Amino acid sequence: MRTPIVAGNWKMNKTISEARELVSEFVPLVKDMNAVEIVLCPPSPALLPVAALLEGTDIELGAQNMHWESGGAYTGELAPVMVKEFANFVILGHSERRAYFGETDETVNKKVKAAQNEGLMPIICVGESLEENQAGKTEDIVSGQIKAGLKDVGANLVIAYEPIWAIGTGLAATSEMANDTIKIIRSNLKELFGQEDAEKIRILYGGSVKGSNAAEYFSQSDIDGALVGGASLKADAFAEIVVAAQNEAVK
Ligand code: 13P
Repeated sequence: MRTPIVAGNWKMNKTISEARELVSEFVPLVKDMNAVEIVLCPPSPALLPVAALLEGTDIELGAQNMHWESGGAYTGELAPVMVKEFANFVILGHSERRAYFGETDETVNKKVKAAQNEGLMPIICVGESLEENQAGKTEDIVSGQIKAGLKDVGANLVIAYEPIWAIGTGLAATSEMANDTIKIIRSNLKELFGQEDAEKIRILYGGSVKGSNAAEYFSQSDIDGALVGGASLKADAFAEIVVAAQNEAVK
């Protein structure tokens, strides 16, 4: 049994006061959700204030990105050791980082290694574009990202399958479609890490997940939770997704 993860990627949203308000509203809504790992990934300035509010809860923190170097002259970047001061998770290789900030499978690979060296759990994002999907290239693209991004790394990681065309568009992949691609990802993980480890790795779906469709995803054989964007910005909407994961986990 893999413990499901529901992670909220706030992206570039929420000032510190807005973050405090959201977390204060959210925490009481999920206090009995003990079969789910809940992870909040606020923007960097909110990490410290959110960490303070989460003290005494089981809710975990993640950063949205970091550099692979341990420190030095990298203006604007966060070192793994700095992330680790607040967080246990770090999202790596999100499609927005790949599209707007030049991230490649090679840089993702360096970051995964750096995260694991620092004891951080990376959430590595993969996914195909609409054109790639329509050209029937989903398997090639996603498998390529997995094999290159995870070259020579340990099995202590989480994958998020986020088809780019489903992010922020309301066009969620069907749960069967998502599960089929996630099974391919798991077979890639078997090649890399062996059967036993591959069966333990959590693979999340991301892309227009909301309270009304979450249960469908979580009922699929290989979907182990969700990486949520828009719906994680409202306490009740995000809590609904956590409840759906909890209900499936205790079935
Ligand atoms: P949405 O849930 O807004 O589609 O975003 C998904 C995402 O990119 C999470 O990382």
